[in-house]
Amino acid sequence: MDSIKKTEIRKKNDKKELFLDQTLRPNTWNEYIGQENIKNNVFVLLEAAKERGHQPEHILFYGSPGLGKTTLAYLISKETGHQIKITSGPAIEKVGDLASILTNLSPGDILFIDEIHRLNKNIEEILYPAMESGTLDIIIGKGPSARTIQLELPPFTLIAATTRISMLSAPLRSRFSGGVFRLEFYSNEEIKDIIKRSASILDIEIKDEVALEIAKRSRFTPRTANFLLRRCRDFAQVSKKNLNENTVNKTLTMLGIDDIGLSQLDRQILENIIEKFKGGPVGLGTIAMALSEEAPTLEEVNEPYLIQLGLIERTPRGRVVTEKGYQHLKINYNKLL
Ligand code: ADE
Repeated sequence: MDSIKKTEIRKKNDKKELFLDQTLRPNTWNEYIGQENIKNNVFVLLEAAKERGHQPEHILFYGSPGLGKTTLAYLISKETGHQIKITSGPAIEKVGDLASILTNLSPGDILFIDEIHRLNKNIEEILYPAMESGTLDIIIGKGPSARTIQLELPPFTLIAATTRISMLSAPLRSRFSGGVFRLEFYSNEEIKDIIKRSASILDIEIKDEVALEIAKRSRFTPRTANFLLRRCRDFAQVSKKNLNENTVNKTLTMLGIDDIGLSQLDRQILENIIEKFKGGPVGLGTIAMALSEEAPTLEEVNEPYLIQLGLIERTPRGRVVTEKGYQHLKINYNKLL
């Protein structure tokens, strides 16, 4: 192959790597693997709206980080042919920020608000009439002379995402008339298929068994799977080896990820509860303090996976390590202690 062509291919691949999240995102419902229940429901919602010539209703996605909430929002935008505008709860600092976003929407637009649980309460109230009746209430002036003017907004669909559904107020939740959908963890088979799809986009050759080996250690989460795939590919490339079970094992050991996908922090959480708190029950705040970590991080990132694997349990009195948790760390389980 001549060198100009090679350089062009490299440049194209470099670009793919730079915008990786975008490149790996599925563009059609067929390309989107897993979450069958959500896919079916949202598909019907969008088709029905299209047939009636209406704007699709507002949708809320919630679930652990990396399960594909943003990916679904992009997919809905692609499938409906509507433009997507993206923002997030913490990025909207003032009422005026949201008013400006809403008034700058074009008819049919999809507005995606990530981490909506971090939206300020007084800003949230602006959303209610916008979602319900497509109007924006603006208060002009202060005190007795203050008055409200109402602006008509273009028809739009709000798609919001959150990792903390319990932090959303009931009035906000109830305004997602299109539905509130919980993203589930993926099966290892689904993750394997996602890895194979990503590998083919990134021109990485990978056998089924090797993809499954990465899948088993991916926390049932596509984002983690894609991250591990890239790290394994890097390791194989730098060590001039093939991407096989051996290179996968070496890469994951180097990253501190064990055979069931636990990170160092996951294992520290288990060890801490066992060694310092006799296996629990112990409050999340106490665990976080003992590990110098933030409680919300442990709750959103680590705990769901540990619970999913059955290594810890959440009880009214706090977190408890299960017998399986002890076994995984090869620590003797003795309930009487
Ligand atoms: N990439 C990330 N999530 C995906 C999914 N659910 N299906 C296909 N590719 C993905």
